[in-house]
Amino acid sequence: MEVDWGKIMKPYPKRNITLPNGEEMIVYSQGKDEIEKVADVLLPNVKYHADLFDLVNAEIITELYLWRENREIWGCPAASHFNLVGKVGDEIVGVSNGVLRDPKVGCSLHTTTLKRGLQIGAYLWPCKLEHYFDVLGIERLEASAESAIGGRKLFATYGFTVMPFPEYRSHFGTQLQVMTKEQWNRIKAGKLAGERI
Ligand SMILES: CC(C)(COP(=O)(O)OP(=O)(O)OC[C@H]1O[C@@H](n2cnc3c(N)ncnc32)[C@H](O)[C@@H]1OP(=O)(O)O)[C@@H](O)C(=O)NCCC(=O)NCCS
Repeated sequence: MEVDWGKIMKPYPKRNITLPNGEEMIVYSQGKDEIEKVADVLLPNVKYHADLFDLVNAEIITELYLWRENREIWGCPAASHFNLVGKVGDEIVGVSNGVLRDPKVGCSLHTTTLKRGLQIGAYLWPCKLEHYFDVLGIERLEASAESAIGGRKLFATYGFTVMPFPEYRSHFGTQLQVMTKEQWNRIKAGKLAGERI
């Protein structure tokens, strides 16, 4: 099926979230012109092994560069890639990216924070779900936790369904988990923080 991604991909409607320290985080979808800037900010965490920051940040940087070069990302079209960036003032404090397998099936990539202890990742994750389900209009999201902290903070509390067969693996080689639009509609009121601006 030939897909015109230009018609499907839309920018994330900006959201303003007040962090626990009182700072305001603006969440928006970055443009391709910001790829190098975002990659530079993530680069130091490629050397931070705790909680697999190194693996996850290395993968995000790779995905940003694959996007730049219009090359497939884990078998998904580069044109379906997006990255939501959280900024406090001019400082990038977290990112959350994804791709689509086809117009109705999302393939979640990564979420990471650049400042710990402020729930930045926990706030960005439902923004990504909102983007997938409510802005891009998918029906099903495939995802998998790459780290124990990600599994605890982002999956267990969201009612993702672990596929019953352990051989169902995501492209990351970890157990595939799925969320449907119906599940998202049930939980989103309690998960999305802040307001659209
Ligand atoms: C998973 C992740 C996005 C969650 O981000 P977050 O919501 O902003 O949360 P933090 O990273 O600040 O983690 C806070 C928790 O880590 C612990 N922690 C470890 N080091 C910490 C530090 N320096 N300061 C504060 N908390 C710290 C605390 O126990 C805290 O627990 P709590 O949130 O239950 O109170 C983030 O931990 C991350 O980027 N991890 C590496 C990449 C990753 O695993 N991504 C997800 C893959 S599925």
